[in-house]
This record gives sequence, structure tokens and C-alpha cells, in this order.
Amino acid sequence: MQDRQPILIFDSGIGGLTVLRELRLLLPYETILYVADDAGFPLGDWEEPPLKERLLQLFDGLLVRFQPKASVIACNTAFTLAGEALRAAQPDHAFVGTVPAIKPAAERTASGLVSVLATPGTVRRAYTKNLIDSFATQCHVRLVGSDALAAHAEQELRGEPVSDEALKAEIDACFLEKDGRRTDIVVLACTHYPFLANRFRKLAPWPVDWLDPAGAIARQVVRVLGDDLYLEPVSVPDTAHFTSGQSTASLKRLLAGFGLSLAAPKN
Ligand code: DGL
Repeated sequence: MQDRQPILIFDSGIGGLTVLRELRLLLPYETILYVADDAGFPLGDWEEPPLKERLLQLFDGLLVRFQPKASVIACNTAFTLAGEALRAAQPDHAFVGTVPAIKPAAERTASGLVSVLATPGTVRRAYTKNLIDSFATQCHVRLVGSDALAAHAEQELRGEPVSDEALKAEIDACFLEKDGRRTDIVVLACTHYPFLANRFRKLAPWPVDWLDPAGAIARQVVRVLGDDLYLEPVSVPDTAHFTSGQSTASLKRLLAGFGLSLAAPKN
């Protein structure tokens, strides 16, 4: 166990790093423990009952082993499925979640046409449908599920560029024209996607606002922690644990760029 209680950031791969970079700006002295369940990647393809079970079991172990002061579920696919069950199972632990930014999109859209780009799992969730029913009934919300984009983001970030055609094929369905109006907001409802946002901007048939919730998640972590903050830096590096035990040079380099050192597999 580490000397200081870390903030745990969880995702299925590198997507949670989009949240980590915002968190560091607001909380530079916190110790970060990054956990990626890459053995289960892509979580977006899982059936709901086994995925929920997997996440509950994983967190049972993580909270005992690392005793984080809070956990950020930096994964829409995981949180929209298991957020409530995790909170019920660990009532004394602070979880900060990630959900599709449908409410802010509905508040901001001028055209009333909003698209939500997400994994197939997030698109199927009752949680996502409830967000639309609660906050966006006045809008036309198109849900666009992508089987491939999270993997494309993993690839791109490890230095293997993905072609324009491959990316365009995944985002095209987000762009809708109806009665002289056009989609003006695309919600990035998978934490992997903001890494591809500059590519999306170039490939989009017209400019839209690509909504990335990372800043809002980081601000929520600050609110949840209140005064429970560290005010001095430590010299111990922040660590990343990948459940598959992979330890390629490209992954180590990538993590180092985010201030993380890859921990050796448990056994
Ligand atoms: N980064 C995850 C999310 O926000 C999904 C990637 C996956 O399918 O594993 O939904």
C-alpha cells in the first residue's frame, strides 16, 4: 500500500487519461492510481450481467488493496451500468462517475439536433435512455454506437495512426440535417474519444461542438473531496495497473507522458 491515499481513476484502457489530464490541472498534489481493466477491453461489447459482476468484484479487491480516498469511474460504459451497484456495495466510498453529457448538450444546442457518440454498451443502457427522457425531450437525440472507435483511439495513441476513412465511417451517422436544421453538438460519451477529437473536427461535414465531459468530472472530484486534499507534492511516482499485465514499450512511454509508471503485474 502507498503512504498516501490515492485517487483511483478507472477505465478499460487509455480513455481515463483524458480525465486524468484535467484532474491534474485542478489537483496537482494528489497521488493518482490509474487502473485499466484492459483484460476486459472493450467493455462496450459485454453483456450487462457479467460486466456488472466483473466490475463489482474488481472494485471489492481494489478498495481493499489500495484504499483510495475516492474512485473516478472514467468510463461511461462501466458507470452507466454499475455506478448504482458500486455505490450500494461500497456505501462509505466516494465514487465519481462519467455519464453521457446529454443534459448540458440539451441546454446548449441551438438547432435542437444532438448526437451522442458512444460504445454499443452505453447506447443500449437504460441509464442513457433515462437521461434523454429526463433532460432532452425537447431535442432530437441520435444515439450513435461505435464498435471500433475505442480501439482506434488505443491504436492512435500508441503511435499507429488510424486512417481518415476508418474514423469518418464511425462518425458519419452523427451528422443529421432535418427541416433546414443541422446537428450542432456531438457528445463524446466514451472517454477514449476526446483523444480523436482533432481528427473528428477535420473530418466533420460541418463544424459542431464536440462535448468532452472531462473538465466537469474533474470539478466534481474537487467538490467531492472538499478539504481532503494534499497540499505538498511527493516524490513517489503515480502508478498505473493494467489487468492484462501487458507492459509494452509503447504503453510505458504513453503512460510516462501522463506522469504514470506502469506497475509490475501482481503475480
Ligand atoms: N472508455 C470507455 C467509455 O467511456 C469505453 C471503452 C470500452 O469499450 O472499453 O465508455
